[in-house]
Amino acid sequence: MTVRRHPIIQMVAIGAIASAIGIALALWIDWFPADAATQDQPIDTLYDVLMIVSIPIFVLVTTVILYSVWAFRMRPGQENEDGPPIHGHTRLEVFWTAIPAIILVSLCSYAYAVLTDIEKKHDNELVVKVQAVQFAWSFSYPQADGRPVVSNQLYLPKDQPVRFDIRSEDVLHDFWVPAFRVKIDAVPGITTTLRATPTKLGTFPVVCAELCGLGHAVMRSTAHVVSPAAFDRWLAGERAPVAAAGGGEGRKLSQEQLVALGRETFAGDGSCGACHTLADAGSTGTTGPNLDRALSGQSEDEIRTDIVDPNARITPGFSANIMPPNFEQTLSAQQLDGLVAYLATVSK
Ligand code: CUA
Repeated sequence: MTVRRHPIIQMVAIGAIASAIGIALALWIDWFPADAATQDQPIDTLYDVLMIVSIPIFVLVTTVILYSVWAFRMRPGQENEDGPPIHGHTRLEVFWTAIPAIILVSLCSYAYAVLTDIEKKHDNELVVKVQAVQFAWSFSYPQADGRPVVSNQLYLPKDQPVRFDIRSEDVLHDFWVPAFRVKIDAVPGITTTLRATPTKLGTFPVVCAELCGLGHAVMRSTAHVVSPAAFDRWLAGERAPVAAAGGGEGRKLSQEQLVALGRETFAGDGSCGACHTLADAGSTGTTGPNLDRALSGQSEDEIRTDIVDPNARITPGFSANIMPPNFEQTLSAQQLDGLVAYLATVSK
């Protein structure tokens, strides 16, 4: 009957082995998306430390419960027996209060230090104003001449500290770039702030992390981390979109080029195709009307109004205020012309 003689030693042994397996598994699993900002390493390390500390506690509690259920189970003939009464154990109670308190205070202090570190203010921060609206993001880059550059895609120069000023026009949203780890709510009426310094070239998803309505799942955009020179070129292009796209001041695109630009705009990440089904663009969204049906017989003017003033008329079976009302601001004039030309073409 070794079980009876050394229950605590057995429990501790089982617990230690299970903890070791649990920690090894937790560290072996690759939990994190791309490592693309200076904020990532401290946050990932904090997460690992939290797991290393909490897994043994979870395993210990589980082991004690399961072991006790098995080792001290009722046997035939013990139906009417009762265990000895328990009168408390002061030393044990002090112990099990003090240890968790020390662990909690240590982890909180560590987490606070990480938070202070990743939110450190930098000189020469690039300020990006992030605006959330059901169900789209727009990014505004203040310019010296007073006219901000507004885009529905997030462009950031590599290794440049960025401060995001986040606002919501309607309900609670949450601005999150998983590759930068950090995220924060967009709260109507106040401006929340987030800092990140991108360190890796590439494109990374921007998502909404707060259930905000029917289109929550498609409230997405893309963060493009580019070289500082490419960022300056992009900014210059956005300031003079016609010159950049056409290769000459005021040059007009041919009908074919417009339709191609429109198709590209339609299919872009977080754009029309996320919510609308359109066979020609290969999109299957169901948040908004099926454009293969809704578009037939519509004039260019009607299509343009549907894009820039989506609440003017609502397709039966759909609600108002689902489609973002700000596409006239977030798309360039040329993208809008292209979209209208493209949709008018495919609807015929
Ligand atoms: Cu916006 Cu979820």
